[in-house]
Order: sequence, then C-alpha cells, then structure tokens
Amino acid sequence: MKFFASAARGTEGALRDELRTIRLPRVKADRGGVHFEGTLDDAMRACLRSHLAMRVLVELGTFAAHDADDLYAGVRMIPWHEHITPRHTLAVRATCTNSALTHSHFIALKTKDAIVDAIRDRAGARPDVNLDDPDVSVTVRIARDVATVYLDLSGEPLHRRGYRVEVTEATLKETLAAAVLRLSGWTPSVPLLDPLCGSGTLAIEAAMMACRVAPGARRRFGFERLPAYTPDVAARWRALVDEARAQELPKPEQPITATDRDAAAIETTKRNAFRAGVDRGIEIRVCDVRELPDAVGPGYVVSDPPYGDRLAAKPLQLAGFFRQFAETLTRMRGWDVALLSGNPLLEKSLPWRPAREHTLFNGAIECRLLSYKIPA
Ligand SMILES: C[S@@+](CC[C@H](N)C(=O)[O-])C[C@H]1O[C@@H](n2cnc3c(N)ncnc32)[C@H](O)[C@@H]1O
Repeated sequence: MKFFASAARGTEGALRDELRTIRLPRVKADRGGVHFEGTLDDAMRACLRSHLAMRVLVELGTFAAHDADDLYAGVRMIPWHEHITPRHTLAVRATCTNSALTHSHFIALKTKDAIVDAIRDRAGARPDVNLDDPDVSVTVRIARDVATVYLDLSGEPLHRRGYRVEVTEATLKETLAAAVLRLSGWTPSVPLLDPLCGSGTLAIEAAMMACRVAPGARRRFGFERLPAYTPDVAARWRALVDEARAQELPKPEQPITATDRDAAAIETTKRNAFRAGVDRGIEIRVCDVRELPDAVGPGYVVSDPPYGDRLAAKPLQLAGFFRQFAETLTRMRGWDVALLSGNPLLEKSLPWRPAREHTLFNGAIECRLLSYKIPA
C-alpha cells in the first residue's frame, strides 16, 4: 500500500528522517509531506509513533482529471465497498493546484457523488455525509490535472494527542513543536529549557520524546472506524500500543524545564503535562525570562518568543524585550539556542549571527528557526 504522511511546509525533511527512524519502508519526502509504502500495520505505526506527521493517508487511486467527468469516472473505479458501507458516514476534502478543475468545493462534491453512487449501486443504500465527525474521511488532491484519492487513517489530525485541552495565546501545534525540536538539533541527552513556554507545548513534546511516550498511545484514530479494522487488525493495533507503552521511561535522562512569567500559563502547562503523562519529567515554574539564573552548557534553549500578540503592535517595546532576552541568553554560556521567529525584529535585536536558519510554516505564517551558539 502507498501512504502519504502530511507535514507543515518546511518540516518535510525532518518528518522523512523521523519516519526512517520508525523504520517505515520506502520513505521519500515531497512537498507537503512524506510518501512511504508498506502494510496497514506500518501506517498504524506511523500514526502511533510519529511526532511530526499531521495526517496519515492511504492512497486509493490516481488518474488524469481534466474535467468533472474524468473525476467522477476515476473516483468510481475505486472499489469503495472495501472502504465504506451504507452504515458509515462520509466526508470529502479536496485541494487543487495548477489544474483545469479549480474549485475545491466542487471537486469534493463530485467525488462524494461518485462514492455515494458506487455504494448505492452495489448495496442498495447510500452512506450519509457528516462533515463534523465522519467515519470515513476521503481527501482528493488534484495537481496538474492528475487526481489522487486518499483515505484518511488519522481521523482527527495527529496534533490532537489528547493532552492539550487548554491553550494560551499563540499556542504552537504539537506536531510543529515536535518538528522545531527535531530541527533544533536537541536530543534527550542534553538539558532543555523553554523560558517562554505558554501552554508548554515544546517542553511537553520534548518530555514525550525523552520518555519515549508514543504520541498516539492515548487517542483514537480514523482507521478504527473503517471496515478494514477487523478484530485481527484491532488485536494487532492493541499489541502495537502495548509494546509502545511498555517502552515508556518514567523520567527524561536530562532536565527539561518550562518557565513563563504568566502564572495562568504555568498552571495550564502543568495540567497539560499531567494529561500527557510527563508532568514528573518537566520542571514547570513561573519566572520572568530576565530573571533566569546564569547557566553553563551543554544545554538547549528551544523557544517560540512572542511576536504576534499585543507586543507586536509596539515594535519599540518588542525590540526592547528581545534585547533583554538576549542579555539572559548571553549568560547561558555554551548553550545552543533555537528560536522560532515570525518577526524579523527578533533576528535584528539579537547580537549574534545565526549559525543556521531554516524556513518553515506555522499555518500560513512563514517563520524562521534561528539557531545560535552562545559563546562559552
Ligand atoms: C508565543 S507564546 C509561547 C507559546 C508556546 N510555544 C505554546 O505553544 O503555548 C510566548 C510566551 O512568552 C511569554 N512571555 C512574554 N514575555 C515574557 C517574559 N518577560 N518572561 C517570561 N515569559 C514571557 C508569554 O506569557 C507567552 O506565554
């Protein structure tokens, strides 16, 4: 089977490397995600173990789609009775680029019609549409007049690990936080600090990596609602989850610390870390970044400084804050620093040149991950 794991733009290479470490077969990065091949068990492992993937999709067919008739005929060629019955509910999402078919809503409707007609002709009844909580979620992508139809195995997007029910302002998605950690070069053998932690996503994801907590071990997936999820498959899935949980470590090898000046954010971080099962692995406390104690490396600061909130409207104040932040970092001799920046003012306000820069997207916002080495 062919699969596609989607990723935030700019994180495809990091996802490719992660999927290789999970030992998925024939991994290949592409725009917007990573292809791999294998069995349903491989895809379930990706859902269970990947920190970076946003969704895992299985490819059902690909064909030329120059117009609506091509699209309808191509979708009907797929053996839908293997994937959906009249008792299931259905939703279709579509995207299109550089193609004669230009309306994603129309493409989704035409695809839905073809699926529903195929099931009705075979079973005498049709599945209902449910856009909010479908049993079966189909994605159609048309690029340069070639349509590819996928079944979504994730269900809810994979960033919903189930631990974060509360967010603070400008929260990072869990999958993006995991990508930032991976791109930063941090590994669990080195201490980590996020001094602007908000709801704690970076520190919690780091603690999950350090404690080998599989991101999908505490949530449900779309594949559990598909006809292919037979009792045999369900038993194999439970075995995968049990195996992953048996590998969890009680504490990270090195300290992971999350601080923020906002007491409410710290309480949120504590509750989120507890729900993620890693609260014992993170030191979480209120601290203004300007009051952090001096430190000596090795260690990593990985953080997502404020740039899109109220401060952004006051560039002078924001630049002042960044300079004070830099003073704190200067006292962290020999530390590595990776900052996700959505505002050029950050780079301009810091006294060092980045050792590395990596462009990635936080939703539609183009960001840079700036890496620095603080002189020892
Ligand atoms: C962009 S948010 C971080 C969001 C976080 N990555 C998450 O996923 O929830 C920036 C955080 O910086 C904190 N902050 C701003 N100024 C600060 C300061 N002087 N000291 C400590 N924290 C500060 C804010 O309270 C806010 O929670």
